[in-house]
Amino acid sequence: MPVLYSNRTYIFEMTSRVRGERGHIVFDFPHMLQSLPNIWCMIETKNLTKVYNPKRTPYTAINDVSLSLEEGKSIAMMGKSGSGKSTLMHLLAGLDSPSSGEIYIDGANLATMSNRELNTFRNHSVGFVFQAFYVMPYDTVFENVALPLRIRKCSEQDITARVTSMLEEVGLADKQHTDTIDLSGGQKQRVSIARALVTNPKVVFADEPTGNLDSETGEEIENLLFRMQREHKATVIVVTHDADLAQKCDEMIALKDGELVDKTDL
Ligand SMILES: Nc1ncnc2c1ncn2[C@@H]1O[C@H](COP(=O)(O)OP(=O)(O)OP(=O)(O)O)[C@@H](O)[C@H]1O
Ligand SMILES: [Mg+2]
Repeated sequence: MPVLYSNRTYIFEMTSRVRGERGHIVFDFPHMLQSLPNIWCMIETKNLTKVYNPKRTPYTAINDVSLSLEEGKSIAMMGKSGSGKSTLMHLLAGLDSPSSGEIYIDGANLATMSNRELNTFRNHSVGFVFQAFYVMPYDTVFENVALPLRIRKCSEQDITARVTSMLEEVGLADKQHTDTIDLSGGQKQRVSIARALVTNPKVVFADEPTGNLDSETGEEIENLLFRMQREHKATVIVVTHDADLAQKCDEMIALKDGELVDKTDL
């Protein structure tokens, strides 16, 4: 245990295992912390690999990916169709498990979590905009967006306020009582975006969130994602084929055949 020596200096008493000697190491913590950059790694992977159908027809979709993504940054994920972008996003969000390697989100090792802990973690920390929307077709727009708040057991008043304001943000206020099956593709995509953002998650994964939208609506959704980053300090990871959107992000990662490559190699 460290001993507080003065209001800025700690002493660690250490015993050398080899020689059995005792000695002191003095750390000047405030001084050390000032010299460190104020960053926190929100997502880190080590040697991440995903093999689909390992027994019958193995296919390595993610191959030895090690990366670290800083808190509060926006990151564009690019790569050709089939390069593994959705697979990597699902792994990072704890929606699928890797064949080998490690994933840490906000300091937590996903592999050590029970299913219940993983569900709570996803509900509290992650917003996921699926490429294929995965909205509930026979529920109303309102109920689709309210789902993560109901899981959290928020009050009815809180749910109404947050869902209504989120639906306004994505331009679907007038559709809140419509069954989702009756919406257009772009409107379903916006429901999926509203559902992902209504909880103000720490990490937003958006898998081609503007793929089905006209350029004007697409730009509004992009702005919404960047606003989440700015106002809620969210880390935003967005899969896109759109070079303009990628340019607007703080960083870009590129995948080719399941491996991280330099963006110039795409
Ligand atoms: N459940 C699965 N079983 C077997 N192979 C799969 C499975 N899911 C994905 N794959 C394969 O893994 C590879 C990566 O798929 P993934 O969906 O991650 O690609 P992507 O980069 O998101 O492509 P796109 O831009 O078309 O969405 C593809 O070759 C795909 O066929
Ligand atoms: Mg995909």
